[in-house]
Amino acid sequence: MIVIPGPASKELGAKIASELGVEPHFAEYRVFPDGESYIRLTRAVEGETAVIVQTTAPMQDRKLMQLYMMASTAKELGARRVVCVVPYLAYSRQDKRFLDGEALSLELVIGILESLGVDDIIVVDIHNEESMRTIQSRHNLKVHNLSAIPVLAGELRDKGFEGAYSLSPDKGAVKLAEAASKILGGRYGFFEKFRDRNTGEIEMKVVDLDVEGESAIVFDDIVSSGGTMAKAVEGLKGQGAERVAAACTHALFMEGVEEKIEKAGADIIMASDTLCPPKGVTTVSVAPLVANLLRKLTTSKKRVQ
Ligand code: R5P
Repeated sequence: MIVIPGPASKELGAKIASELGVEPHFAEYRVFPDGESYIRLTRAVEGETAVIVQTTAPMQDRKLMQLYMMASTAKELGARRVVCVVPYLAYSRQDKRFLDGEALSLELVIGILESLGVDDIIVVDIHNEESMRTIQSRHNLKVHNLSAIPVLAGELRDKGFEGAYSLSPDKGAVKLAEAASKILGGRYGFFEKFRDRNTGEIEMKVVDLDVEGESAIVFDDIVSSGGTMAKAVEGLKGQGAERVAAACTHALFMEGVEEKIEKAGADIIMASDTLCPPKGVTTVSVAPLVANLLRKLTTSKKRVQ
């Protein structure tokens, strides 16, 4: 197995290689002054399983182009199998046509990777697994979805949040809270969130959660502008929760988000390393999870589902 960390995931790619006990073969890259990318694979891949590690945000479009260049080059140079580890898969929130005429962006990204000859994609906490499965059923590659939630919950348990109330910001993400509660041993539930599809404005209903004096954690797949997380944390603190943690898999964290969530009352902010969280955010790694799946994929004779 040849592990190729791409420009967007040098650190994570190296960690995955180290978990597997192999050398990472970093792709050489440049960005020309006009914005185009140059990519060169630095190790022969003929007859091998090429594992390309490249997250895709931000700048999503450039990172995707670099991913396409690495995958197509590996295939053209004779890789037997091409596995793309894309821990944060850009455009996965646009997995449906919510308004007439919208681009079905996730399908486009998956379709391009398929057309390049990619055999497997490994993602972490894809926004909506069901929609992704529907899209995948129209394609010939396999998408494997891992979850960082048990790792985040385990770390929070070690930091004194055992028995905490696990919450997700909306009903769609309640599976995250449920998975976390299995590790933390407390209750789980969700807020009611509404997003105006035209303006993007969020409205969050904070029902009475009976959290006075308790610890609570908000788990989300993505924190981007931080609006969702800040509203949830604020709601919990407003109801008297004693300690509140904000945890997410993908720390997109636009400018000022950490401060926004802290100001809302979060006692700890935690994220996985599918992206590069800012310094003040406690980070847990998905490298062992990814390495474990890669081991299974490359040793199993049967296709891993
Ligand atoms: C949306 O449904 C996602 O699960 C996240 O809740 C959302 O992307 C967070 O976005 P923001 O941080 O901009 O509120």
